[in-house]
Amino acid sequence: MAHEDLKGRSLLTWLDFQAPQIRYLLDLSKTLKAQSRGGELHQRFLGKTLALLFEKRSTRTRCAFETAFGEEGGHPVFLSTADIQLGGKESLEDTARVLGSMFSAIQFRGFKQSTAETLAKFSGVPVYNGLTDDYHPTQALADIMTLEESFGSSKGRKLCYIGDGRNNVARSLLVICSKLGIHFTIICPASLAPDPALVEICAPLAAATQARIHFTEDLDQVKDMDALYTDVWTSMGEEDKKEEREKLLKPYQVNQSLMKRTGRSDTIFLHCLPAVKEEEVSTEVIDGPQSRAWDQAENRKHSIKAIMLATL
Ligand code: CP
Ligand code: NVA
Repeated sequence: MAHEDLKGRSLLTWLDFQAPQIRYLLDLSKTLKAQSRGGELHQRFLGKTLALLFEKRSTRTRCAFETAFGEEGGHPVFLSTADIQLGGKESLEDTARVLGSMFSAIQFRGFKQSTAETLAKFSGVPVYNGLTDDYHPTQALADIMTLEESFGSSKGRKLCYIGDGRNNVARSLLVICSKLGIHFTIICPASLAPDPALVEICAPLAAATQARIHFTEDLDQVKDMDALYTDVWTSMGEEDKKEEREKLLKPYQVNQSLMKRTGRSDTIFLHCLPAVKEEEVSTEVIDGPQSRAWDQAENRKHSIKAIMLATL
């Protein structure tokens, strides 16, 4: 059974998961959302503790983990780099061992993917990647959940990401779409195309699910897409590249005229947030009727609760 295999597992990248396990988590996310909407109260994390480690800022991810865990009787503890040693005075391995002895699970948001891996290796408890430079897996689950809420299913749907094709969000979408059979196009300048090493890893996964994966600079490729997705032009930690990115990505703004080029009125707009309005997306689109960005933000909480319930 997919869910039995998930007990005790860390979520560092979707590359480590099988499609039926991701499917199980998507279905559980929807069940939990319905329970929450129905006002059901549960205490499924009673007696459990969660360390929330943040090297980078967060609104949604922190609040999703903290409220999802706390409202079910768990005790979340927020720890920024100003509060604890994280490879500072003591080694990361030592911090991981100590946290593992006191917490049921650890969420890490920060720079290096290797930090999340080390925490998982030495803590002995599930570690959830709440965003690194390389991946943002909990985001991708909420994204696919939102796609499915809009269209009833995700397999065979056409998702198009426009913007910085190298970033954590684009990379996680590339992996999850390849695993689930979702056609995935990235429209971006050639210099911001996804890492060829990751593309190579995903190619056989996509072949197995018949997902068509495609990279292009051509904005006409938005034609007939089910969803257009964008993210900030400059990710956290890359602030020195802001001017260069603005120049490169200006033609790639998702605005009403680009939405029209899909040739469809039911194409949805997705954004992981935070958004810089009038840069990667016009205010008209993100605040308009085709936007699902706010559902997507709410879905972070239900899908993160699903990940914790399945693994704890
Ligand atoms: N989408 C997302 O991860 O938002 P935060 O940076 O606010 O957590
Ligand atoms: N790519 C963005 C995502 C924020 C949720 C960043 O890393 O800053």
